[in-house]
Amino acid sequence: MTRVEPAGSFVGHLGVPGDKSISHRAVLIGALAGGETHVRGFGRSADTQSTIDAVRALGVQVDDLADDELVVHGVGLRGLQALDEPIDAGNAGTLMRLLTGILAGQEGRFEVTGDESLRTRPMDRIAEPLKRMGARIDTANGLPPVVIQGSATLKGIEYALPVASAQVKSAVLLAALNAKRQTTVVEPMPTRDHTELMLEAAGAQVRRTPGSVSVEPGGSLRLPEVAVPGDFSSAAPFIVAATLLAGSELTLHGVGLNPRRTGLLDVLERMGARISIFNRSKVGGEMIGDIDVRSAELTATDVDPGEVPRLVDELPLFALAAGSARGVSHLTGAEELRLKETDRIETVTNGLRALGVRIQARDDGFEVRGVPTRPVGGRMPSDGDHRIAILAAVAGIVSREGTDVEGADSVAISFPGFFDLLDSVSRR
Ligand code: S3P
Repeated sequence: MTRVEPAGSFVGHLGVPGDKSISHRAVLIGALAGGETHVRGFGRSADTQSTIDAVRALGVQVDDLADDELVVHGVGLRGLQALDEPIDAGNAGTLMRLLTGILAGQEGRFEVTGDESLRTRPMDRIAEPLKRMGARIDTANGLPPVVIQGSATLKGIEYALPVASAQVKSAVLLAALNAKRQTTVVEPMPTRDHTELMLEAAGAQVRRTPGSVSVEPGGSLRLPEVAVPGDFSSAAPFIVAATLLAGSELTLHGVGLNPRRTGLLDVLERMGARISIFNRSKVGGEMIGDIDVRSAELTATDVDPGEVPRLVDELPLFALAAGSARGVSHLTGAEELRLKETDRIETVTNGLRALGVRIQARDDGFEVRGVPTRPVGGRMPSDGDHRIAILAAVAGIVSREGTDVEGADSVAISFPGFFDLLDSVSRR
């Protein structure tokens, strides 16, 4: 149990660790490239360490130059080596899904498994399109472990994603690198496009329209450098806390601002938040910038289905912000939250209700009756879910009495230095 005391305000400057989605991709795509990939700003966490361990097990040399810097010695598009033991993806859904796409086109048999939480998460969503490409993929009734009998003769397909998922899109696009002809993925709504951007940077032939992305097989990839932006999802807890704490003045530096990730900024601005962005630039196709946050009084808003993919991992924090906003807020079209590391509709609503927030679960989201005061606080379980542990800690910071966070060590899945950074900007 970790005790989080309320703060008076958040003041200062900080940088957050490198983006988790982009860090996974840098290691995986670096492994498939020819030559070395030098990754700077790598976001080291339990999840991204699982990715390094997985590619090492597949015969790829990865040199750790520093906590946030590494060199991946790529083995080429078909150079991964089969192994007898299962690959352990730990808690990382992104790793399990993207790696399965990659392994579909490698020679040999591979098994990918994960921890207790990951073994409850749906893998039929990747098995289905990959089988259409001619891969042999077996799951345990749609769940991990995933067994891949790699095939050198994958076909290109046209695939309309049944759910808006960047992980599924990416699994198909990575398999497409080793297919016989072009593959196109059509998205119901735009999801994060880090895979497309990094493949383009690596010289793959990628064609994009507003609703689709196509990858042409063949050739080889070269990805000499990746500069990973700060993780917007790790900046988000600080943005919400600084907004809610009167007198806050917080600046976050070098944060990734890919527009498919920053839906929380739009939602908070609609609620009256005072957020400004400056020093914008682009690295490796990814937007980056500094974010200035001042405290503000919020009013309620609705988050609609079309917006959900742009803030899918920040919806727990939206619930907390809505709890202190004037009026009733709704989230709809977010049934995907039930399939994350925990059922986040349940863990968010039960957890925040225990702290005094008036929130009700719905099948596809929640309803929050906001009161413009601090929540009371109390005890909140994380159920081993890193985003819920972070939510519980931020709730403690903005509460009257603080929180006792059960399972707080799960923050290390995405953000090992979270509590230290929290302390560094908290003013009592
Ligand atoms: C991710 C995609 C999202 C997100 C996850 C990371 C990625 O999942 O929730 O934390 O890196 O592609 P889905 O693709 O399942 O929506």
